[in-house]
Amino acid sequence: MSGHNVWTHKGTFLLAAVGSAVGLGNLWRFPYLSGENGGGAFILVYALTIFAVGIPILIAEIMLGRTSRQSPIMGMRHLTKTHGTSRAWETIGWLGAASAFLILSFYSVIAGWAIHYTWLMLTGSLVGADAQTISTGFDALLAAPGLMTLYHTLFIAASALIVGMGIHKGIESGLRIMMPALFVILLVVLAYGVVNGDIGAAASFLFTFNIADLSLEGWLQAMGQSFFTLSLGMGAIMAYGAYMPSEISLTRTAFAVAIVDTAVAMVAGLAIFALVFGAGLETGQGPGLMFVTLPLAFAEMPFGALVGGVFFILVLGAAISSSISLIEPVAAFLVERFDMTRPQAVTIMVIAAWAMGLLTVVSFNMWAEGTIFHSLFGRSAFEFIELLTNIFMPVGGLLIALFAGWALTQSEVMKELGSSVTWFKFWRFLVRFVAPAAVAFVFLRTIPQVDGYLIPTLGALLIIGAFAASQRWLKKPRQTT
Ligand code: TRP
Repeated sequence: MSGHNVWTHKGTFLLAAVGSAVGLGNLWRFPYLSGENGGGAFILVYALTIFAVGIPILIAEIMLGRTSRQSPIMGMRHLTKTHGTSRAWETIGWLGAASAFLILSFYSVIAGWAIHYTWLMLTGSLVGADAQTISTGFDALLAAPGLMTLYHTLFIAASALIVGMGIHKGIESGLRIMMPALFVILLVVLAYGVVNGDIGAAASFLFTFNIADLSLEGWLQAMGQSFFTLSLGMGAIMAYGAYMPSEISLTRTAFAVAIVDTAVAMVAGLAIFALVFGAGLETGQGPGLMFVTLPLAFAEMPFGALVGGVFFILVLGAAISSSISLIEPVAAFLVERFDMTRPQAVTIMVIAAWAMGLLTVVSFNMWAEGTIFHSLFGRSAFEFIELLTNIFMPVGGLLIALFAGWALTQSEVMKELGSSVTWFKFWRFLVRFVAPAAVAFVFLRTIPQVDGYLIPTLGALLIIGAFAASQRWLKKPRQTT
């Protein structure tokens, strides 16, 4: 191998990381979560976590990718060798690959729904439809496994095609066309919301802070969301970081990613709630906000079919630019480890994730109840897969923070960060202590029904355990280079 792959353009890493970050999480999950959790207070916690936890871990993850210059699994293998730490840290890579695979499997199914709605909007099928018709229509989609599988297949195949064409011709060129288009569409939808909706009501809903609106559950969801939305803890960012030229500022890039990602979520929230309030609809509709409430708002408004169609194209584009970053780390691993060609590697990854996705498809209909998942875990296969990723992501993030914080030497980190000692010290404090503690709490959210005392107790135990384990793993003396 002669050298390693590097993005052709200086700005590509930023573009790619923003593409990965901005997705269904911003356009679908963020608005409905803030709608359910009282708006402003939720956003406050979300923003605090982005800055105190998200950005430091984002920096850590890019750093691991850029110093190792390999796919997450091989990269971590390399770093454990060069740093004389236990091979157990390779878990970061494996956990990441597992999460990428699991997330891709359901992400593609949900993105597939957006294909359906793009079609319905552009053909004008929903113009003037009432609430009853629209919600029955959504239920009918969920009840049709064949149709959902078709959309799922189309979406995942499109993503595979882009990654299969390589990081330059596929990913880089794809993003350079898609991302600017997405920003333009987002602004068009916002402008439409300002004209036809009630932007004042949306702004006061999103930006009025009333901390009493927020339950503990809401706090934890806000933290989990800030994690999910930055694509942290699963190697996607590490894989892209491996292609980032050394001279680019890591700190500045990480801040830019977080700021753009947050801004997109806010603008999407404003636009969506402006339309929802304008049409006199409910904000707390949960996951149906985008697929039921919003289509209803479009159905009643002038040029709603056209703007609605464009809106769902935005959703699709944002989802594709995220799903390619789910394929890349695993594909890059298969290429490095087994000497496959890129198309072979992508095909294997995507066929496996596609098959897994069928579990999500049937979770809404044929297997909606009474399966082995329900009897073992009390939830559908889809909900179980989502739960797994909600566990893997924070654990991955925790390990990334600990490894970058404790295993990398000061001179290495300083070289990567390329900035002052003060910032280095502050960053290291955040990844060593603050981020692990915060992540432990997010993680606990996934354990259902723990009461008030158990949460802090388990949290403390988890943090102590993680430190104990990391100190042990780190102190392995053998040095092999
Ligand atoms: N950030 C993506 C979104 O907001 C979702 C996501 C989470 C993701 N983890 C990821 C995307 C890893 C790509 C890679 O929709």
